Amino acid sequence: MGTELLDAFAQKYKLLLDSELRTLVSKLDSPPIIKESMIYSLEAGGKRIRPLLLFATLAAFGADPQKGLHAAAAIEMIHTYSLIHDDLPSMDNDDLRRGKPTNHKVFGDATAILAGDALLTYSFEVMANIPHEFATDTTKLKLVIELAKAAGTEGMVGGQIADMEAEGKSLTLDELEYIHVHKTGKLLKFSVLAGAIIAGASQNQLENLSAFAHHLGLAFQIQDDILDLVGNQQLIGKPVGSDTTNHKSTYPQLLSIEGATAALHKQINLSKEHLGMTGLNTNLLMEITDLVASRDH
Ligand code: IPE
Ligand code: IPE
Ligand code: MG
Ligand code: MG
Ligand code: MG
Repeated sequence: MGTELLDAFAQKYKLLLDSELRTLVSKLDSPPIIKESMIYSLEAGGKRIRPLLLFATLAAFGADPQKGLHAAAAIEMIHTYSLIHDDLPSMDNDDLRRGKPTNHKVFGDATAILAGDALLTYSFEVMANIPHEFATDTTKLKLVIELAKAAGTEGMVGGQIADMEAEGKSLTLDELEYIHVHKTGKLLKFSVLAGAIIAGASQNQLENLSAFAHHLGLAFQIQDDILDLVGNQQLIGKPVGSDTTNHKSTYPQLLSIEGATAALHKQINLSKEHLGMTGLNTNLLMEITDLVASRDH
């Protein structure tokens, strides 16, 4: 993945996260099929980039990354719900996700919709139940409000509806940037801010980290668009060419691959500039940023 430092860090905290997610879903008292459907997508093999950003942000403050375990689980639940719904026939209509058949292909549309609803709802319960030694009630309330904003109408859902409405249209770069910043950027940014909030960041640190993550989130989706065109299906674990089939507005469609690659590097450079201004120990966050620029999956 990255250097030895990031590899060891990622391996350790991904294992903890996987076990936390499984425990959280296992203890739900409900018909087994909905839990099976939730676990199927949670354990399908996502990169866990959002949890890693949260853990690495805590590390940047010199705080114990484990303090962010519940928040990381909550974020990965929202992200996974968004993918289950994004793949539905009425949205992007994709059959492959994380290298496996999409949730609705295995469980049917109704169960997939409900698994998404279940993950979305449970996420807020998990966030509100962060143990008191990791976050005070005031901190938890802030996390819940910021998560709701990042995932909701002014965040990811706003971006997803704009993405659907833009199918078959030609957009300006500003309109396309709105989509990317919202459908992908907001949750990614919240992952960094959640770590900062738990660590007790100053206003100035929050502002610099917020700008860092804004540019990183945009870069992440530009690379997602590029990989949809030139990626390897085995590696990305989802169909290549889905955006073309769906007549999506994407960076390569608007700017060509070369233009999209230049836009990606511009956003990566901006994100690093802001990260450099935080005065924190940003080694891991810098490495994750490099990874976003060069990722092949
Ligand atoms: C895919 O996200 C959808 C976007 C928001 C770009 P990821 O590329 O993080 O997907 P997983 O979690 O690794 O499957
Ligand atoms: C989806 O963007 C962003 C979400 C909020 C799920 P895409 O539709 O490009 O994501 P992929 O390529 O299917 O993962
Ligand atoms: Mg989509
Ligand atoms: Mg999609
Ligand atoms: Mg995509």
